Amino acid sequence: MGRRPFIIDCDTGTDDAIALVAAFGCEEIEVRAITSVNGNVSEPYTSRNNRNLAAHLGLNVEVAHGARHPIGPKRYDYSLTHGQTGLGDVILRDAEEYAYSKDMAPEVIRRIAAEENGNLELLVVGPMTNIAIALCLYPELKEQIRHIWFMGGAIRGGNSSTSAEFNIWVDPNAAQLVISSGIPMTMVGLDVTEKAVLNREDEQEIRSYGHNGALLSADLLNYMFVRHGGGGEDALMHDALALAAAVCPECMEYHDYFVDVVCDSIYTAGHTVVDVRNRFGKEPNVQVAVELKPEVFKTWLKSSIKNCKSI
Ligand code: RIB
Ligand code: CA
Repeated sequence: MGRRPFIIDCDTGTDDAIALVAAFGCEEIEVRAITSVNGNVSEPYTSRNNRNLAAHLGLNVEVAHGARHPIGPKRYDYSLTHGQTGLGDVILRDAEEYAYSKDMAPEVIRRIAAEENGNLELLVVGPMTNIAIALCLYPELKEQIRHIWFMGGAIRGGNSSTSAEFNIWVDPNAAQLVISSGIPMTMVGLDVTEKAVLNREDEQEIRSYGHNGALLSADLLNYMFVRHGGGGEDALMHDALALAAAVCPECMEYHDYFVDVVCDSIYTAGHTVVDVRNRFGKEPNVQVAVELKPEVFKTWLKSSIKNCKSI
């Protein structure tokens, strides 16, 4: 496979930020743009985090604003899992000199998809609102996007409710529209991401790399460890694992299943129906990650962070 152009759509977010550092350490891909979406924190914060991170790493990449609200019923959970700003207790310089794209996320996706002649891949690690809006505005994208790699959903369980994972729970209508679009896609859900955990040793190794991307990642990991000590989520690399599916597929095992999303239930909205028993007799539409090889993933993640071309 030759040059692989990507857009990363994210609700940065502590684990999103680590995934971004890793992405800029992956020789296999060229990140054309980072697009921001409401999710972990509100969009003004997620876009500011993306801009400040790009400046902090010394990156020359397009950073665009995106959706501030889901296309479905308004559903927010700024539960401070990622802190007030979305980057925990990490403070980045406000890079006001770093200009945002003149275009919003859906237009950026349309423009770059057209430029890349069917080779554009999307890494989607927040609610799917921007992608859904882009597909509604520009239906031709269904033929122009090569693959969507997304962190979201679960075969079993949830972290926003007993049956819904956060990214899908925030905007189930967007997720259903994207997942049913026919675009080839890979789902990296909680079944594998909840096993993708780093520890203090990993943090110290990453910190030893010394560059801005490594030090930022280590500081974010430290925040996660303190959060976990206080009863919060562990240092789970949800979003970096979705990137791994794209560039280090051997980190996991996969199975093709029919997947849909529950939208209109008070109790189960955001649930991803992954038809592992082929109960509904429908053609599989998603490659679903079902098993993780933790050590293979951790080795890949640390080498990608180490290789991040940051200042
Ligand atoms: O459920 C985990 C997902 O929700 C991750 O993408 C995390 O960043 C949050 O957005
Ligand atoms: Ca995220």
